[in-house]
Amino acid sequence: MKTGKLTVGDKEIELSVKVGTENEIGLELGKLRKETGVITLDPGFVNTGSTESAITFLNGEEGVLRYRGYPIEELAANCDFVEVCYLLIYGDLPTETELENFRDSIRAHTMLHEDIRSFYNGFPRDAHPMAILSSVVCALSTFYQDALDVDDEDQVNTCVHRLIAKLPTIAAYSYKKSVGQPLIYPRNDLNYCENFLQMMFAVPTEPYEMDPDFVQALNLLLIVHADHEQNCSTSTVRMVGSANANLFASISAGIAALWGPLHGGANEACVAMLERIIEDDCNVKKYVDMAKDKSDSFRLMGFGHRVYKNYDPRALIIKKACDKLLSKMDRDDPLFDIAQSLEEVALNDPYFVERGLYPNVDFYSGVIYRAIGIPVQMFTVLFAIGRLPGWVAHWTEMHKSPSARICRPRQIYTGPGAREFVSIAHR
Ligand code: SDX
Repeated sequence: MKTGKLTVGDKEIELSVKVGTENEIGLELGKLRKETGVITLDPGFVNTGSTESAITFLNGEEGVLRYRGYPIEELAANCDFVEVCYLLIYGDLPTETELENFRDSIRAHTMLHEDIRSFYNGFPRDAHPMAILSSVVCALSTFYQDALDVDDEDQVNTCVHRLIAKLPTIAAYSYKKSVGQPLIYPRNDLNYCENFLQMMFAVPTEPYEMDPDFVQALNLLLIVHADHEQNCSTSTVRMVGSANANLFASISAGIAALWGPLHGGANEACVAMLERIIEDDCNVKKYVDMAKDKSDSFRLMGFGHRVYKNYDPRALIIKKACDKLLSKMDRDDPLFDIAQSLEEVALNDPYFVERGLYPNVDFYSGVIYRAIGIPVQMFTVLFAIGRLPGWVAHWTEMHKSPSARICRPRQIYTGPGAREFVSIAHR
């Protein structure tokens, strides 16, 4: 297909199309309003592509997810998270030398400025860690004012390395503050996931014993969360970045979007839902019926997806990892059991089958986080640490695009027509 035809009233216009690597077709609307006077209207952008991108490919009908062409299953089985960060941001899997240089650069940036440590005394003890994460990430721009030029590739690259290095430190500090323990400095003799776990759970009074199963499970979780094309938070990062806002500010906005329970906040909401079902005599059917009841706002958290109308491939990977970790720990988690029962009931119910509603990335991830000892409020923070390379890759791809321009959608106005002003004495 080379072009598309559109008839608007008595006008017919020809629109060029963009055909993607996997033969997706996009109608290019650049001249629509100029030639017809009309715009498109697509709440939630269900049918609207915002950009071309070479980073991640999803096929929602077949449950396919690839980063830079590599299937998520291969990357999850063979890579570590820093390697996947490199792939997403720079476009290819790194050589050993490239990867070592990347790791060294990240190690050099894991510490926070000592003045940032004092920020944590300013937040309430029960502050949500996503609020802290978004605030501190934006505040990084005040400590690196000499490296915020979005058009300077070296400055952007330094910002990228600083963010990847510092997000785990910022996150772990928020947890330590919430439990009244001393903030633990990063250690450069540890790998990325080991370092995060020791900053989270080490205490100065005794050596921290690293559990390799926890390190492996965390590494897998970060990889499967690393990118997901034009999701809500990534689109937010692109939108904010399109105004030439610096990378720290753009990522801070992405963190805020991810916090939403319909998006990354669903992993925290899913655990709360599963615990509620357990407390309610494990009455799975009651909650499946509530989710189907249009008069009830209740939805199955961790279920359904805008793109996947098949099983989310990440949920399959995470579910297998749950099984493996719990059996290695010789531990039963009632949450995992109830989640599997809920999945079983839902996937045999026409309501869910007809709508293509399957478990998504957030349905089982909480089981692993709990097994590792991550508190529920930190689940979405872990999602953000995983998603950071994706956000960064999209932000830099957007800035390098020759068609980059500020994102500014139009609207259809439905408010009152022009009317005379009435002074307050006569209202
Ligand atoms: C993430 O975009 C991404 O890629 C996101 C993400 C990523 O990696 O970045 O994958 C991460 O955000 C995963 C999604 C996490 N959110 C949840 O688990 C929250 C619960 N899910 C839903 O709220 C919902 O499925 C969404 C928000 C995920 C998708 O919403 P859509 O695409 O707008 O779908 P919809 O609301 O139009 O639902 C279509 C139908 C509706 O019923 P009908 O009007 O057709 O009768 O399906 C129903 C909905 O009521 N439905 C659900 C449901 N999800 C959709 N019914 C019950 N429980 C659910 N979870």
